[in-house]
Amino acid sequence: MYEIIKEGNARIKVRKAKKISKEMEVFYNPVMAHNRDISVLLLNCIGKKDMQIGLPLAGTGIRGIRFLLELRKNKIKSISFNDISKDAVKSIKSDLLLNKTIKDKVRITNEDANLFLLNSKGFDYIDVDPFGSPNFMLDSAIRRISREGILAVTATDTAALTGTYPKVCRRKYWAEPLRNELMHEIGLRILIRKCQLIGAQYEKALIPIFSYFKNHYFRIFFKCVKGKKDADKVIEQHGFFEKAGPLWAGKLWDKKLVDCIYKLLLKNKIYDQELIKFLKIIKDESKINTVGFYDVHKLVKKHKIKKIPKKEKLIKRIKRGGFKVSETHFSGTGLRSDIPLGKLLRFVKQ
Ligand SMILES: C[S@@+](CC[C@H](N)C(=O)[O-])C[C@H]1O[C@@H](n2cnc3c(N)ncnc32)[C@H](O)[C@@H]1O
Repeated sequence: MYEIIKEGNARIKVRKAKKISKEMEVFYNPVMAHNRDISVLLLNCIGKKDMQIGLPLAGTGIRGIRFLLELRKNKIKSISFNDISKDAVKSIKSDLLLNKTIKDKVRITNEDANLFLLNSKGFDYIDVDPFGSPNFMLDSAIRRISREGILAVTATDTAALTGTYPKVCRRKYWAEPLRNELMHEIGLRILIRKCQLIGAQYEKALIPIFSYFKNHYFRIFFKCVKGKKDADKVIEQHGFFEKAGPLWAGKLWDKKLVDCIYKLLLKNKIYDQELIKFLKIIKDESKINTVGFYDVHKLVKKHKIKKIPKKEKLIKRIKRGGFKVSETHFSGTGLRSDIPLGKLLRFVKQ
């Protein structure tokens, strides 16, 4: 039995399923709706026009169909949907018809993602959105991303990056992970560095412009800058956090872009409260350049402080003390701040 579901401005036909799994004939994952929302918002905020968009792992095609329906008029020159699954290609074709999208901008292929990318002339936006690790196609995606292009990477193999399996992390991501409250931020930074190292081989600097962790996946949007010097500058920002790393110790966000995304989000009524709350926190934390954050509950326990202060009150105190502070999307009990630990402890004890 099939049903028509709506996401953003798009409608797609999916098989009714009791449980979402990658064994499904064609994979539609509603949990990833926010992932797609953010892609739409970001592409509407960046200054690029007439983009050639490549979707090597297009799945149902929902992301590309949303781009066709929700991106501003002058944004798309062409959009190439590809998937290795014949059923996915069938579903892309029928969903394009269902949504009455503009046919002349669209190409559909049924190839292996690496062949699709390497046989192409390149794209201004490539979305690497696999089940699990993006490793198997990072090389071809990075080779085919254009100068000033945007590369989006999702990774759902969070157990490796967050230190459940340190050996897997060393093998796949060439770094030592962390297994504590900071593991998600550290995992994200390890993944960023891995992509950047591949970029550096081709003299491409991959600069993160919007990165996050949500619902058990990592997501990064990189701007690609072509040049030896820029690639070297990226590598200079690799370092360690305690014993974890090497990792990207630079900025996770372009704060102007984050502001634009948040403004656009509030203007458009299709987005839900969960996404608004999530992006508000990212907007605030994008203004603070620190690697890592403080976990207030952990500090209270470690320093045997009797009472956990209310988050809002603590934020006010830190701000009054002249420091930057915000919540962090990585943890409900975390605060990102440039305050030194000793001073923070005084405020926590107050
Ligand atoms: C997570 S889904 C993609 C979801 C889609 N991007 C979206 O936003 O809804 C991963 C897709 O990759 C496809 N796939 C897996 N391995 C592939 C390969 N080597 N080449 C091309 N497609 C592949 C699968 O058939 C599946 O449709």
